[in-house]
Amino acid sequence: MGGRRGFRGLALWGLLLCGSLRDLASAAPACAAPSDAGQFWHISDLHLDPTYHITSNRTQVCASSKGVNASNPGPFGDFMCDSPYRLILSALQHMKDSGQQASFMIWTGDSPPHVPVKELSTKIVIDIIGNMTSTIRSFFPDLQVFPALGNHDYWPQDQLPASVSEVYNAVADFWKPWLTDEAVSTLRTGGFYTQTIQSNMTAQPLRIISLNTILYYPPNTMTLNMTDPANQFAWLERVLETAHQNKEKVYVIGHVPVGYLPFSRNTTAIREHYNERLIEIFRRYSSVIAGQFFGHTHRDSIMVLLDEKEKPVNSLFVAPAVTPVMDVFEVDSNNPGVRLYQYDPLSYNLLDLWQFYLNLTEANVKNESVWKLEYVMTKAYGIKDLTPESLYEMANQLSVPHSKLFQKYYSHYFVSYDDPSLFCGEHCRISQLCAIQYLDLTSYADCIEHKGKLHG
Ligand SMILES: *[C@@H]1O[C@H](CO)[C@@H](O)[C@H](O)[C@H]1NC(C)=O
Ligand SMILES: *[C@@H]1O[C@H](CO)[C@@H](O)[C@H](O)[C@H]1NC(C)=O
Ligand SMILES: *[C@@H]1O[C@H](CO)[C@@H](O)[C@H](O)[C@H]1NC(C)=O
Ligand SMILES: *[C@@H]1O[C@H](CO)[C@@H](O)[C@H](O)[C@H]1NC(C)=O
Ligand SMILES: *[C@@H]1O[C@H](CO)[C@@H](O)[C@H](O)[C@H]1NC(C)=O
Ligand SMILES: *[C@@H]1O[C@H](CO)[C@@H](O)[C@H](O)[C@H]1NC(C)=O
Ligand SMILES: *[C@@H]1O[C@H](CO)[C@@H](O)[C@H](O)[C@H]1NC(C)=O
Ligand SMILES: *[C@@H]1O[C@H](CO)[C@@H](O)[C@H](O)[C@H]1NC(C)=O
Ligand SMILES: [Zn+2]
Ligand SMILES: [Zn+2]
Repeated sequence: MGGRRGFRGLALWGLLLCGSLRDLASAAPACAAPSDAGQFWHISDLHLDPTYHITSNRTQVCASSKGVNASNPGPFGDFMCDSPYRLILSALQHMKDSGQQASFMIWTGDSPPHVPVKELSTKIVIDIIGNMTSTIRSFFPDLQVFPALGNHDYWPQDQLPASVSEVYNAVADFWKPWLTDEAVSTLRTGGFYTQTIQSNMTAQPLRIISLNTILYYPPNTMTLNMTDPANQFAWLERVLETAHQNKEKVYVIGHVPVGYLPFSRNTTAIREHYNERLIEIFRRYSSVIAGQFFGHTHRDSIMVLLDEKEKPVNSLFVAPAVTPVMDVFEVDSNNPGVRLYQYDPLSYNLLDLWQFYLNLTEANVKNESVWKLEYVMTKAYGIKDLTPESLYEMANQLSVPHSKLFQKYYSHYFVSYDDPSLFCGEHCRISQLCAIQYLDLTSYADCIEHKGKLHG
């Protein structure tokens, strides 16, 4: 499926990368990373549309276009449609063929398609999550996968409850092969869990905390007015406190991210008061948390959490989607993407990330899926690793007026989607920049007021 050719390209890229980095004394660690670093995959927002098929009436290509004409449908999908099964297979095939050794995978939710509520049901949603689970397992039978639930992983969508449900039970059964009994049990009652992974390089295990952030998602009417839905906050604080006592490091994963939406002024992704509470907890336990990973926006973005004294204390990543469509009424889309992170197996600090993508237009023309390396984060942004200090440095570089680096960031934001009209004006730029560094109400409002607190 073209995967091998993709990998040869990648290996060459890697050599060039090391060659050019060797000239820069300060960037040496990035070159050494692949052999002794740990690695893990991150996939998000697969959004399978089982109705996708090529037909002459373009309104009929996929249910997820909701009656709108597909734009240029091909075997790997269309920018107006959610993923055909073949697109999802090609992503997993690429990951497998890349030859990269990963110690685990994180999968941050949203398997069903974007279609009107009446076109789905609890059974269809469960079947699709089950299908995605067995599909992933068929490619990676021995790899441990840590999933998080998305707002579409429920029927009706977004309404994930603060108590046991048929969907929580079904996914707990699907995900049993990857999870401990304790994890399966909290998954059944609230859609969240925690579990450690033992690395053989160090005595300290890595702890994954998979949050159900849909409990805090504005459209979720099941949790209206609840101060602590499913007691997840109390549970999270307890888990982080224990991790702190045991000197563990934690990766937090979830679907809907914390912080402000980069494309929408003054809007948090989860309800504002829940966001304030989560940010307070994340600041308090920032020394325990070595990374945070989300999806949902379908776009590629970063955030760096600052403490009250504006010191960078946490690195957060929002991974782009596999599906090329977010909302058929939006002008811009994204190419399908998957990513690989490198981490230090002793400290679990993040060293780098490799973002892969499929040029959907090209794949459809060629009837062949050649996934390519879109960028390597340290190389693209001239930073030495992905620690909070480095991301803070990157954010400051992006804030420089007329920054070329910001244009690159904005192109990566859409996963190199080709649209000459993609332009981020001043309003857009300020929203993007403030969302990167200011995750709570006070500091975000202050940033907006001071026009992004920009240099100069
Ligand atoms: C395409 O399908 C729609 C919906 O079924 C229908 O209304 C329309 O007439 C069809 N167009 C053509 C050209 O057949
Ligand atoms: C879809 O495209 C056809 C053919 O170009 C056009 O007649 C029709 O009005 C379009 N339908 C919609 C819903 O835009
Ligand atoms: C998953 O769904 C696809 C598309 O509908 C189908 O072709 C495939 O057989 C299903 N696979 C599993 C394991 O259910
Ligand atoms: C860790 O242990 C596994 C299983 O024993 C082994 O396959 C792997 O090579 C070890 N990894 C390291 C980095 O020592
Ligand atoms: C939730 O709170 C709002 C405003 O505080 C109130 O109007 C509404 O009745 C409450 N809803 C429930 C279900 O308690
Ligand atoms: C931003 O949102 C907050 C809370 O919803 C509100 O108090 C504030 O006035 C808004 N600021 C702007 C500039 O819209
Ligand atoms: C994707 O492929 C199209 C068609 O071949 C090409 O025009 C475009 O430049 C490619 N985009 C990227 C980012 O390589
Ligand atoms: C595209 O490739 C698939 C699988 O490689 C093949 O079955 C199919 O016939 C090809 N389609 C076209 C239009 O060439
Ligand atoms: Zn999604
Ligand atoms: Zn979502």
